Amino acid sequence: MSKVHIDWGNLGFDYMKTDFRYISVWENGKWDNGKLVEDNTLIIEEGAPALHYGQQCFEGLKAYRTKSGEIQLFRPNKNAKRMNDSCDRLLMPEIPEEKFIDACIQVIKANEDYVPPYGTGATLYLRPFMIGVGDNIGLKPANKFIFSVFCIPVGPYFKGGMKPVNFMVSDYDRAAPNGTGAQKVGGNYAGSLLAQKKAKKLGFADAIFLDPATHTKIEEVGSANFFGITKDNKFITPLSPSILPSVTKYSLLEIARDYFDMDVIEGDVFVDNLDAFSEAGACGTAAVITPIGGIFYNDNLHVFYSETEVGPVTQKLYDTLVGIQFGDIEPKHDDWIIKIK
Ligand SMILES: Cc1ncc(COP(=O)(O)O)c(C=O)c1O
Repeated sequence: MSKVHIDWGNLGFDYMKTDFRYISVWENGKWDNGKLVEDNTLIIEEGAPALHYGQQCFEGLKAYRTKSGEIQLFRPNKNAKRMNDSCDRLLMPEIPEEKFIDACIQVIKANEDYVPPYGTGATLYLRPFMIGVGDNIGLKPANKFIFSVFCIPVGPYFKGGMKPVNFMVSDYDRAAPNGTGAQKVGGNYAGSLLAQKKAKKLGFADAIFLDPATHTKIEEVGSANFFGITKDNKFITPLSPSILPSVTKYSLLEIARDYFDMDVIEGDVFVDNLDAFSEAGACGTAAVITPIGGIFYNDNLHVFYSETEVGPVTQKLYDTLVGIQFGDIEPKHDDWIIKIK
């Protein structure tokens, strides 16, 4: 019996302080053993490179409660790998995959009461992050780093969950052609806040970004990748060096191919050719699959399937993905699910 009193069915995607978080420090070339702490504040040096030069990165993954009450993670090795790609790009020390996954497991177990019950649709969101700290002022990599993982029970990221939302193509770029768009680093997100604010002010769920070099192709939403289903039933998702390689997107790609025998293509999605698609969606750990009702571009709202109904292909991809994540459907790959013992 859980000791926390939470209205699981009405959770949004909001911060909530849970009981324990994991902290490990890298200094003099190595990570310490790491430990769980109760304090949710960090004290860091005023010159910390994370504060001035954005030397930091983060991840996002979820723990799921199954029907039998067990807890499981979905492909945490992919998040560990992506975090290390971010670390390499920003000259931060790599975090061994076992340490990353062990930290997540320690946090889940220490906060087990916050893992939402099966059937509520809610999950435990894990937020690993790394920051460059230590005394510093010039532009150079930090000499000390903190790796931490905290967790929050969450519901849907976009209001309403599996309901279509509309996005607006932004005039701003999220990332540069050879910049850090493919890494999960804070600067990408700070730069996208204004676009998001403007989109929301006009009544859209979020901004959608075009490729920064030519502004002709859809890249991604500020917090999720884009996919479209063509009228001849192909799964298409943008291929670009400046979008975040989404674990959810690559999982959906494999599900579309292996469960539904669909052709899957990573390629160009031209914003003036949206007629090619019968359905479209935004996908990510937080967004899961959020059907895209329409995209606003050049004073025109292009509606895909419907602004109120979910398309059949989007629905079956969602059911399969979520079924695997919550343990109701057997994954075709052994390493997709890690059970917490
Ligand atoms: C910019 C961006 N794109 C896509 C995604 C989706 O990635 P994933 O499916 O790995 O959560 C996220 C969330 O992590 C994101 O922040």
